[in-house]
Amino acid sequence: MRSCLLPIAAVAGKRITTIEGLSKDGRHLLQLAWVAEDVPQCGYCQSGQLMQAASFLKDKPTVNDETITAAMSGNICRCGTYSRIRKAIKRAASGDGALAAVETPACAAACSFLATNEEA
Ligand code: FES
Repeated sequence: MRSCLLPIAAVAGKRITTIEGLSKDGRHLLQLAWVAEDVPQCGYCQSGQLMQAASFLKDKPTVNDETITAAMSGNICRCGTYSRIRKAIKRAASGDGALAAVETPACAAACSFLATNEEA
């Protein structure tokens, strides 16, 4: 759901997962794939892109350009990161074992930041 279009009353009593809820340590397959494919540009749209991708992959769909385009429809990226988003979704869907080894300085800093703030 797009939070900008959803009145808070519509989710009263419902469970909500935000981008922070995908993983406690920033190591959800999609988060790792996003880092591995260097997806974000300005970052403005990225939480929505990641959550829509997570929703898409949740039911183990057929993953190809057509299904990704349909699933991600309406989530606009002004920076035009669509090709990298598509690659990251395919990479996460493949369960790429190499993702477990992804540990870029940016990822380490982000994971550390998230862990610190979760403890606070
Ligand atoms: S990364 Fe800038 S709007 Fe998507």
